[in-house]
This record gives sequence, structure tokens and C-alpha cells, in this order.
Amino acid sequence: MKAAVLTDFGAPLSIQALPDPEPGPGSVVVDVAATGVTGYAANVFNGSRNYPLELPVAPGPGGIGRVRATGPDATRLTVGEWVFCDPTVCSRDDAARPDTILQGWTYRTEAALPLHRLYHHGSFAEQMLVPTENVTPIGDIDAADAGRWTAVGRLLVPYGGLLAGDLRAGETLVVNGATGGFGGAGVAAALAMGVRAVVATGRNVRALEDLARRFGPRVRPVQMTGVEADDRRAIVEAAGGPIDMVLDFLPREATASQVLAAVLAVRPGGRVVLMGGLRGAYGDLALNYNWLMHNDVTIRGKWMYPREAIPRMVGMIRAGLVDLGQFDLTEFGLDEANEAVAHAAANAGPRQLTVLRPERVGRRS
Ligand SMILES: NC(=O)c1ccc[n+]([C@@H]2O[C@H](COP(=O)([O-])OP(=O)(O)OC[C@H]3O[C@@H](n4cnc5c(N)ncnc54)[C@H](OP(=O)(O)O)[C@@H]3O)[C@@H](O)[C@H]2O)c1
Repeated sequence: MKAAVLTDFGAPLSIQALPDPEPGPGSVVVDVAATGVTGYAANVFNGSRNYPLELPVAPGPGGIGRVRATGPDATRLTVGEWVFCDPTVCSRDDAARPDTILQGWTYRTEAALPLHRLYHHGSFAEQMLVPTENVTPIGDIDAADAGRWTAVGRLLVPYGGLLAGDLRAGETLVVNGATGGFGGAGVAAALAMGVRAVVATGRNVRALEDLARRFGPRVRPVQMTGVEADDRRAIVEAAGGPIDMVLDFLPREATASQVLAAVLAVRPGGRVVLMGGLRGAYGDLALNYNWLMHNDVTIRGKWMYPREAIPRMVGMIRAGLVDLGQFDLTEFGLDEANEAVAHAAANAGPRQLTVLRPERVGRRS
């Protein structure tokens, strides 16, 4: 099979022939039709993200494809069926302490290395070996729409956070970092779940206006100034009532003060879910013990999403609650993998989707 391979951090991806993967017990092989390219893929490939990743590798976390061959333990999957491939691969030998990797992306901890070595290559390839439980049928789609369906991967991440925070219809949510890729998808997912209002924060006015125009009056855009108390006041005013939940998606470049501007706006009894990238000293939130205790506030982190979220997100799309038409797509063939990575870095945003189509040749917008 043909694949775009990362041989050294900082080197461009090179198109190579790799052996076709073979399914075994517990795995299936998928013909990759489309995979999303994230805005920070360039930073993973040049090494600046310091993601643990053994090279060489055909990178790419998950995607949309068709089942090519199943292992002997697959009970329902059929050859040719359209599926979503979930990149979050979990170990099966200690339910209390599962080790996880993102297939073709990073192994996170040394303990997870055996998983990374077995499910090594990702979706920047014509075929991919995937654990059986990581493959979810999405029903029939037009092959031309496979790129658009990669948005499922973008939507599932914030949906995992909204489920973790037990978001209910009729509630008011703040999405902190709503002008970003995952934050913007969080706005779409929350609207689909029936929220009363989403306060969408960001510094980029044009991106905020675009969110409000696209999603209508339930979205309340608030421009962040970087002055914590002012920003919190603006968030509370825009909510126009108690804030039930905060979903934070600020990246590693942001500060604790930017996170706290939203977190401390939550109502007594409210929930806060942290999904962003703050780290090091910037990641210390220094939350006040008494504020947490007296206000009965729940704060939790969330990484990715549970498996059962996948058919539910597919169901919301099928029901018309989430419109995949909201995304602006630019598609590249496998031979243009480096162009795709550069395009994704220059066009990160809530509605932009950069997609690699391994079976195609040439760019399309
Ligand atoms: N928990 C998980 O499972 C999970 C999964 C995937 C990604 N993530 C993390 O989620 C975070 C967001 O990812 P993304 O792809 O959505 O990022 P993104 O597209 O770059 O969005 C970043 C958002 O943060 C805002 N922002 C505020 N302060 C910023 C600053 N100082 N520098 C840059 N942006 C700033 C940006 O908008 P304005 O410029 O308008 O303020 C934008 O809304 C990342 O840290 C990523 O690692 C978490």
C-alpha cells in the first residue's frame, strides 16, 4: 500500500510503499477514504510538540473508511461497510489503569509502547490496521462525502467533554476558546444537545461573528480582552442567567487567568470540564478551596470521549441536529500530504477542515 511516511522529525513526509496490513484476532483492516489533518500536525511532525512517536511511521489519527477485511472475532462488521476509525486505542489487560495511545499520533507513556508498536501506522495511508472495537459503522454514505464525515472526529472530542459534564437540554454553557477547532465543534455539539444558550468566548472578533451568524441567537459571542475580571463580567452578562457548565478548550499558549475568567463564572452547583492544553506552571489554576466547597462546584478533566459517544454523534448527524455542511473542506490526495499539513496549519479555525483522501489524486476545495 501507499503511505505518507514520517522518517525523521523535521523531515517532510515521504510517499512510500509499505506492506499491506493483515487482520488478526481483535483487529480489522480498513481502506482509508478520508482523514482529517489538524492545525498542529506540522508541530507534531517537526518535533516541537514533543509527542512520543516511534519513527518511521505513517501518521494520522483515525478517519473514515470501508472495511477491507475482518479478524475472526468480528461478529457484525461486513466487508465494504463504511466506518469511523477511532484513534484512541486502549490496553485490554488492566481495566483500572488502561494505557492509551492515539494511533499513528502518539503513545503518551512508556507503558503504552506495545500498543504503539502493534497499531503503529495511522491513516495517512491507503490501508490501516485497527482494533475491532475502534471501528464503528456509520451507515451508507456517498463516497464523495467521506471527507465531510471526518468532522465526526472533530465533533466527538468536545462531545466527550459535554457528556462528562452531564450537559442537559435547557442549560446554559460557556465554551472557552470557541473560535478554535475543537471549541467551535463544541458549540455545534452543545446546540444539538438542546442547550438554552452557549456563551462563546475568543479574541478573534471575525470568528466570533461567524459563529453567531451560523448558529443564530442561542450563541452569545463574547470577545476576550485578557483582563480576567472584565472578561468574567462579560461572560456572565452574555449568559443572561445562571451558567450551568463551562467547557474549556484553551491551548497551551493560553494562561491560567484566561481559563479562570470562564471557570469562576459557573453557578453554585455547576460543572466545569477542562479539555484544553495548559501545562507546566501555566497549568496551575490555584482554585480557592472555600469557593469550590461552598459553591458545590464539580471540576474535572476529560481526554477524548467514550466509545458509546460515537454512534450517538452519528445519530445526531443522521437526525439533522448536527449539520456537516457547516464545515469548509479542502481535500488533498496522499501525494500532496505535505501541502495538506501546511494548509491545515495556515487555516485552523472552527469551520475549516483539511482532509487527506488517500485514494485520490489532487487538491479540491
Ligand atoms: N482533551 C482532549 O481530548 C483534547 C483533544 C484534542 C485537542 N485538545 C486540546 O485542545 C486545545 C485546543 O485545540 P484546537 O485544535 O481547538 O486549537 P485552536 O484551533 O488553535 O484553538 C485555540 C482556541 O484558543 C483561543 N486562544 C486563547 N488564547 C490563546 C492563545 N494565547 N494562543 C492561541 N489561542 C488562544 C483561540 O482563539 P482566539 O485567538 O480567538 O482567542 C481559539 O479559540 C489544544 O490544547 C489541544 O491540545 C484536547
